[in-house]
Amino acid sequence: MKQYILPVMVWLISLQAVAFDVKSGGQTSVKKDGANAYSLPAANLPLSKRLDFSVGNSFFRNPWVPAPSSTEARDGLGPLFNTNGCQNCHIKDGRGHPPEAKDLHAVSMLVRLSIPAMTPEQKQTFIREGTVPEPTYGGQLQDFALPDKTPEGQVSISYTDVPVTFKDGTTVTLRKPTLKIVDLGYGEMHPDTQLSARIAPPMIGLGLLESIPEETLLTWADENDSDNDGISGRVNKVWDIEKNSVAIGRFGWKAGQPTLMQQNAAAFNGDIGLTSHLFPSENCTQTQTLCDEVPNGGSLKSARTS
Ligand code: HEC
Repeated sequence: MKQYILPVMVWLISLQAVAFDVKSGGQTSVKKDGANAYSLPAANLPLSKRLDFSVGNSFFRNPWVPAPSSTEARDGLGPLFNTNGCQNCHIKDGRGHPPEAKDLHAVSMLVRLSIPAMTPEQKQTFIREGTVPEPTYGGQLQDFALPDKTPEGQVSISYTDVPVTFKDGTTVTLRKPTLKIVDLGYGEMHPDTQLSARIAPPMIGLGLLESIPEETLLTWADENDSDNDGISGRVNKVWDIEKNSVAIGRFGWKAGQPTLMQQNAAAFNGDIGLTSHLFPSENCTQTQTLCDEVPNGGSLKSARTS
């Protein structure tokens, strides 16, 4: 196993929002604007942790390469992937953007794939994972593959202008996206496949979110708005692989991941094609044999014995 997840964690936990007069991140807030404003360590990060921050930051910024390679600390890309580095999507640690209609690749937007839970087995998967992955392509479309290998397909997007009129008469035009997956590399998709497009969110302040205790979130949820302040919510319950139990979901647009560790390991696996102790299998489905055909840059087992 590569030792990349921990430094990325320390780095992510330390990333802080820019604060001006208001210190939105308390003692962690830094004062900075410009293109690197989202990329700084927390102001109160002790010197002893700065090295971890830099190492994590480099794993996030620098590209991963196919195995085998002389840069052993950074190989294992693919064979299916979305892009070769975290930062290609989380641009400068900020958000991504949807592709334009003319763009060949989606890059900083990814598309999740799922099917309705019909069989008892699928219903079990749904209870455990919250969705049932598309049987041939899995839970996420990877639109890139290593040279000579076939990507899963391409995202084709088109936009329709929709005029929206506010109460005061002002009219604005919004763009309604229509998604299609084209150039399918591994046969037909399940006819009931549901597509869910997601833009890469910004990375600032996530460590602060992770540090809020579960009880506090549960108290704040106030599902039935019993305090009558007009604000109510519901926590998402997801599977925590490490704890082998259900936990509150915190990360991703739909709060689908319980911890930064699991979120990051899922990103390494789903987006870049790297395995870890949390996701020991490659991101191929059973019908996609290419993951068995290419060198994998080291496995958990070889990392333990070396
Ligand atoms: C292909 C684009 C892409 C790449 C590459 C990518 N991400 Fe993401 N990331 C996303 C998207 C999209 C989401 C939201 C996912 C969702 O809602 O399901 C996300 C969510 C996250 C979150 C949670 C953010 C939040 O506000 O809850 C973290 C943390 C994260 N990614 C870290 C990483 C790390 C670490 C890497 C590199 C190993 C990485 N990402 C690579 C697109 C990407």
